[in-house]
Amino acid sequence: MIPIRRNLHFRLRPHDLGHWHAQGPYVTHFINAMSLFFPEGERYFIHSVRHYRDRIADPALQTAVTAFIGQEAMHGREHEDYNRLLAQAGLPAKELEAHAARFLDLLKARLPAAAQLSVTIAQEHFTAIMAQLVLTDPRLTAGADKRLAALWRWHALEEIEHKAVAFDVYRTVMGRGAAAYVLRSGSMLLTTVGFLGLVLFYQQQLLKADPQVRGAQGFGRFLDFLFRTPGLLPRLALPWLAYFRPGFHPWDHDNRHLLTQMSAVVTQAQRPVLQAA
Ligand SMILES: [Fe+2]
Ligand SMILES: [Fe+2]
Repeated sequence: MIPIRRNLHFRLRPHDLGHWHAQGPYVTHFINAMSLFFPEGERYFIHSVRHYRDRIADPALQTAVTAFIGQEAMHGREHEDYNRLLAQAGLPAKELEAHAARFLDLLKARLPAAAQLSVTIAQEHFTAIMAQLVLTDPRLTAGADKRLAALWRWHALEEIEHKAVAFDVYRTVMGRGAAAYVLRSGSMLLTTVGFLGLVLFYQQQLLKADPQVRGAQGFGRFLDFLFRTPGLLPRLALPWLAYFRPGFHPWDHDNRHLLTQMSAVVTQAQRPVLQAA
């Protein structure tokens, strides 16, 4: 599958990002916290894949890498707009984006290129399995304005479309042997803990700074979101574990039929702002 770079603008409005999630402020800021990670995260993914670009002989994979870079750059740009609105609402978005940048710069400075790429492919699997949920369970984005829901669905669709690109680059440069397996599996364990830890930390900072949140209001509904309705964590468990099969490939789970949702998202992005409500 060759991904396609789509230059879409979702033009979110300030009121799209209030307490938008139907399951309360904890869930709202949990999802907003992911957005805070994305601009720097996407740049890190691009950096780690681009490093190996010259080592790819397969023209189809070369084309896919170019599209992967284009898609991630567009995601970064749209999430920058999302995060700017969070900052305009008085939330510490800039500080938390800067925190993510420092963290990822540290990885770039300290990790060998292969380990950096292994973090990217782990994160790409994680985002692809979350994307599956976003596209198949409306409760993930319940309460979102059409424009905000479309942004998350567009990001999810393109994560599925390009889910194997970084993985195929990794296979090309690292092969399929034991060392490649150990590195990618170890990275998945550390990346999962690191990513969830960062997102929960950012969520707490957003909640603390949000004048509309009182005490632990909505915490019970957040636990419900994580464990029961829709049950984010138990539903991610099996697809997450699939990554540890030695012969795993992202397209073992063929969910390309979901990409039929793309045209609705593109149409939504192209609607004039005033008609979006
Ligand atoms: Fe992305
Ligand atoms: Fe991605």
